[in-house]
Amino acid sequence: LTVAVAVATTACGGSNAQGGGDQEKIVVKFTHVVAESTPKGQAALKFEELLEEKSGGLFDVQVYPSSQLYGDKEEQEQLLANNVQLIAPSVTKLVTLNPSFQLVDMPFLFKDDAQAYRFFDGEAGKKLLNSLEPHGILGLAWWANGTKHFTNSKRPLKAPEDFKGLKFRTQSGGVLDDQFKALGAGSQTLAFSEVYQALDNGTVDGQENTFNNIDTQKYVEVQKYLTISNHGRLDYVVLTNTKFWNSLTPEQQEMFSEAMAEATAYERQLADELSAASFENIKQSGKVEIYELTEEDKAKFIEALQPLYEKYGAEVGQEYIDAARNS
Ligand code: LMR
Repeated sequence: LTVAVAVATTACGGSNAQGGGDQEKIVVKFTHVVAESTPKGQAALKFEELLEEKSGGLFDVQVYPSSQLYGDKEEQEQLLANNVQLIAPSVTKLVTLNPSFQLVDMPFLFKDDAQAYRFFDGEAGKKLLNSLEPHGILGLAWWANGTKHFTNSKRPLKAPEDFKGLKFRTQSGGVLDDQFKALGAGSQTLAFSEVYQALDNGTVDGQENTFNNIDTQKYVEVQKYLTISNHGRLDYVVLTNTKFWNSLTPEQQEMFSEAMAEATAYERQLADELSAASFENIKQSGKVEIYELTEEDKAKFIEALQPLYEKYGAEVGQEYIDAARNS
């Protein structure tokens, strides 16, 4: 049997080469940290399908979900080393490269998804997307997940004072750590792949995330309370490295950009649909007590978090904050 397989493989390889498939495939590794069923996970697969089809199989896109290849701590450096060609981190994780990406963390800044999309697609969003070029990183698209909500295992969170003494997981430092500090809580930055366990063993009491991440990571199994707060956003930039990009011909770059534009439209629509579906799943699970902030509650959070605008206005960039407000 072993011999037969070996012979078959050789014959197949030989006929491929003779068949004019002389151009080597361009391998594009796309690594990300979320589940395959998420908007980002699905759009990555859609991009694979679109680019492979448009290029007649010249590109071979390989998608690695759930931190299987690289997690939060490695993916940026692996992109720079050209060991992967695409990543799509939550933008706040780019804080050390450009603190302006923390814009999405500024409390209650965007009124709704449409306003966020107008910002992404407008001049300021494009400028921010292009800002990583001096680092050898090229921004290709803004993808979305949605607004964040708080979960924890200790008590219902209805007012800022309810956060006192609790510890929350953050995606990155800076604005997010100070957000919890302003609410009287502690925080710890953890990679996404470590969050479930940290919630389970009590390293942290709570976390903030989108309905879709809360649902697909099964946080309801290890959390008791969910507060619907919509206090900040979680969005992505799809990034490649300039070394890889510059190795492509203009035609190949065009195919790549076209496939990305189509995958982006698909991703944003899915973000919207899956957010609603995930909220239903969370409710149906019956595992968390859900509280939705009233307008009155929200006003108290806005007041408690106002100091972040004074502290971070300059670092995040007033021009970006104003552009977001006016989008
Ligand atoms: C998180 O770390 O909570 C998120 O950034 C994960 C993701 O990529 O949506």
